[in-house]
Amino acid sequence: MRRAVGLLGGGVIGGGWAARFLLQGFDVRLYDPDPEAERKMGEMLANARRALTSLSAVPLPPEGTVTMVATPAEAARGVELVQESAPERVELKQALLAEVCAAAAPEVLIASSTSGLRPTLLAEGMANPGRFLVAHPFNPVYLLPLVELCAGERTAPAAMERARALYGSLGMAPLVVRKEIDGFVADRMLEALWREALWLVNDGIASVEEVDDAIRLGAGLRWASMGTFLTYRIAGGEAGMRHFMAQFGPALQWPWTRLTDVPELTDELLDTIVAQSDEQAGGRSARELEQVRDDCLVSVLQALRARDIGAGAVLARHERALAAAEPARVIDAGDDLSQQLSLHTARVEAGWVDYNGHAHESRYLQVFGDASDALFTYLGIDAASLAGGSYFTVESHLSHLREALLDDRLSVTTQILGVDPRRLHVFHSLWREGDGALLATAEQLFVHVDTVARRAAPAAPDVLARVERIKAAHDALPRPQRAGRSIGIPGA
Ligand SMILES: NC(=O)c1ccc[n+]([C@@H]2O[C@H](COP(=O)([O-])OP(=O)(O)OC[C@H]3O[C@@H](n4cnc5c(N)ncnc54)[C@H](O)[C@@H]3O)[C@@H](O)[C@H]2O)c1
Repeated sequence: MRRAVGLLGGGVIGGGWAARFLLQGFDVRLYDPDPEAERKMGEMLANARRALTSLSAVPLPPEGTVTMVATPAEAARGVELVQESAPERVELKQALLAEVCAAAAPEVLIASSTSGLRPTLLAEGMANPGRFLVAHPFNPVYLLPLVELCAGERTAPAAMERARALYGSLGMAPLVVRKEIDGFVADRMLEALWREALWLVNDGIASVEEVDDAIRLGAGLRWASMGTFLTYRIAGGEAGMRHFMAQFGPALQWPWTRLTDVPELTDELLDTIVAQSDEQAGGRSARELEQVRDDCLVSVLQALRARDIGAGAVLARHERALAAAEPARVIDAGDDLSQQLSLHTARVEAGWVDYNGHAHESRYLQVFGDASDALFTYLGIDAASLAGGSYFTVESHLSHLREALLDDRLSVTTQILGVDPRRLHVFHSLWREGDGALLATAEQLFVHVDTVARRAAPAAPDVLARVERIKAAHDALPRPQRAGRSIGIPGA
């Protein structure tokens, strides 16, 4: 049976939850009294699909379906979790949570997205608060992996464990807050920054654009990979953290910041902020700004994934889990081998595109290399064990025929041209899905290697038999036109 969740509230955060759950294969039952909620959620889902398909080449599970329901109790029916994302008002949340708790089956987890209200406070009216916790996400919920989990006084440890596993299976990174506290971990820091930002505008020291630049042109770039403590350790030079604390610790006594002092949100201050913010937005709608933000987040996540750090490490882990759930294709006796093999697909990611506006030439070889790996897996060469040896590339001839552009979906077809016990000769073609354009070809020769002795050695008999079977079938195909070409200027 498909997994399902109930959502209370489908605004910025509830809509983001809907998108994350649906795109990870969960069905969603959504309750929101706003008649516009379904439209808003649909628009957010479209943006989420757009972002997630360009983020990762690993296929997502089949998308879940969304059902709009008329009461909180209906949202709780047949689901494993109810996630509340209603407005940040204590009495409203307490009443809603008590109502859904009374209606939900006892095993249903209940979580609140509150930005900072303590779970013990929110659970006051609940008859069965052992299954209740705070699960505080970050906007956009479908792209940012952090979710802070905070238990209340009456939350059962087993509920925390179930929640940790559930959010982890969505590709999120649960951070369990060690002690119940208002604002949890992240919003404590964000609130301090936000307060300073308001003072700087209030006091006429900087405009909203200048405050944003002060973050995104400097420290903001470091935070995605290093956080704050690692950043400062590095800032301490060779002597590290102790030196940094000695140098900058005394400055904390001065202090530069306004601490918990808050500027009064006068009409004048609000007008200034709103006018400057409108100017910053330059007439772009909320959805358009979300797309700009998402495109940048996708590029940052992809760059961090390449370094296996921070949110990139979380993404890589989730992709491995999704790939493991979708086992690699291995040749089967019933496979039709009369056509070229089609074993690998990819997408042109933002980080692949060079100054010419198309994929850098190294990316073509990367895609062909990945297609060769898919071929080896298909032949029964297990990348994890490699006990029987593997094929190493000894020669490649790439032809670039058309440009591969950002977000193009690519597929590779492969023809076996020759085989002997130690060598394998293949011809790959790279196609763009949609218009079917042939973008590039690669002719490659591999030599079989004993991966322990690191020397050429015959392929294992079963692998060889599989290649020979494909080769025999592919002998009936026309030889690719570009096979065997040499490089040169005709007549020159
Ligand atoms: N916006 C953020 O960046 C952010 C980040 C993390 C957590 N949160 C928290 O998420 C929660 C929701 O915030 P938001 O930004 O999505 O607000 P929002 O105003 O965008 O959405 C709230 C939604 O709740 C609906 N609603 C109103 N009364 C309701 C009821 N009785 N039952 C169910 N739904 C009801 C509204 O129609 C609206 O669609 C808040 O607790 C907030 O603190 C917000």
